[in-house]
This record gives sequence, structure tokens and C-alpha cells, in this order.
Amino acid sequence: MLQELKACIEKAQHLTVLTGAGVSAESGIPTFRGGDGLWNRYRPEELATPEAFSRDPETVWRWYAWRMERVFSAQPNPAHLGFAKLQEMGRLACLITQNVDDLHERAGSRDVLHLHGTLRQMRCVACGSRIPVHRPPEVPPLPVCACGGLLRPDVVWFGESLSPDVLQLAFDEASRSDVMIVAGTSAVVHPAASLPLEVKRHGGTVIEINPDATPLSSMADLSIRMPAGMAITENLGLGQS
Ligand code: OAD
Repeated sequence: MLQELKACIEKAQHLTVLTGAGVSAESGIPTFRGGDGLWNRYRPEELATPEAFSRDPETVWRWYAWRMERVFSAQPNPAHLGFAKLQEMGRLACLITQNVDDLHERAGSRDVLHLHGTLRQMRCVACGSRIPVHRPPEVPPLPVCACGGLLRPDVVWFGESLSPDVLQLAFDEASRSDVMIVAGTSAVVHPAASLPLEVKRHGGTVIEINPDATPLSSMADLSIRMPAGMAITENLGLGQS
């Protein structure tokens, strides 16, 4: 199976990668679904909606500051490093992620399409200015923009739309992909989960890497049931060297 993965990567003309929370699991970042997933321990409607933020910005900020702490102190794992290496080798056209962490970038990936935003930025609810986050804010006080508006994490919350520009780029990439590797996602959140379907619609090959089955598994051309780090690095010889 890993030989097939290797062969697909080698012959791909336009290879893209779509990642989800599972790719950062080996860096110690919790996923959303499954046993220890965030959405089994926390209620998204209290922490990840615009309504929750209007109602209780302090609680929302404390939770995001905690997540920022975890992400900023985590290190890229072999999966992040392997995908960065593929790009460095000129094999990867585009890396698309649902993750709000910056572990792909810290592994060396460039021009990553962040479908769901990033914890490395805050956005003003009043003027829309974006401000980099170097350190998680200590709340209280709530972070405030120069214009006086409240700052919020620059991520996509439930009930919000993805950036149309980023989404368009991602769908363009998917439609041009002859091979897409889909790693570490439960493939239940749309529109991200529609990207592999777009690849299939255009006759491309979809390879899933996930220790568990997902709704995508039955339509994937190849399902590799193992952690992403192991599948990408060890078996492809794409180590850090
Ligand atoms: P999920 O938490 O839904 O799914 C994580 C997937 O990773 C599961 O299918 C696991 O089986 C798999 N997994 C776990 N460890 C893995 C490993 N080492 N290697 C490969 N796979 C592994 O995360 P996402 O699919 O990313 O949205 O979730 C999608 C969106 O739902 C997130 O971006 C977030 C969430 O609500 C927003 O915040 C808008």
C-alpha cells in the first residue's frame, strides 16, 4: 500500500495535500472528534461561535489563549516535516489545511491555504484590522484594537463563512489535482470535506491517510490506515535530512 502511495506521489503532475487535526495529533495538539477530542470535552456553541463571543468574550478568549499556549509550544512532527520536504523537492503544488496551528509553516511549508484561519492572528470585530499574535494574550483584560474595537481570534467559527478567496484557491487547486493526499481529517466538515470530491469529479486520485475510517474512505482510491507521520516520513524516506 505504501508502495502505491510512493508511486502515486512520483507520477503526480499536480499533487495537493489536505490536512486536518490528526496531522497535528502527533505534536500533542488535541483533535476535535474521537475519544479525547475537544468537542467531546467542550461545547462548541459556548466557545466557537460569534454568538458565544458576543455573550462572553472573556470565556472564549481564555479558551483560545489556552489553545494558543499548546500550539505555540508544540513542535512540528514527521508528517509536517514530510509534507514540507515534498514541497522543497518540487513535488507538491499546494498544501491546504483545516488546522489553525502554524506547524506546517514551522516545518518549512510555504503558501499554506488555511481554510479555517489561524491562531497566529487576531482580527478586530469593528474595523477588520488583523494583528499578529506572538504570545497568547493574558485575559483579562480583553485584547482591544487601536480603533477601540474588540479583537477576536482570526479563525472561522461555527455559522461563519470561510474566506471566499481562500476557498476559491482551494477549489481551483483541487480541480487541477491529479492526486490529492487527505491526511488526518474526519472529513465531515464542509466545504473542506468537498475538496477531495472535487478531485474525484475531475478524474483525480484521492489517497486517505488516517488510522480510522471516515466518510471519505469508501470513495478514496487508496486508504492508508496509519498515523500520518509514519505513512509520510518513514515509509517514503522523506526524513529531515
Ligand atoms: P477531527 O478531530 O474531526 O478529525 C481528526 C481525524 O484525524 C480523525 O479522523 C482521526 O482518526 C484522525 N487522526 C488522529 N490521529 C491521527 C494521526 N496521527 N495521523 C492521521 N490521522 C489521525 O479534525 P478535522 O477533520 O480537522 O473546524 O476537523 C475539521 C474541523 O472541525 C476543524 O478544522 C474544526 C472542527 O470543528 C473549525 O474550527 C471551523
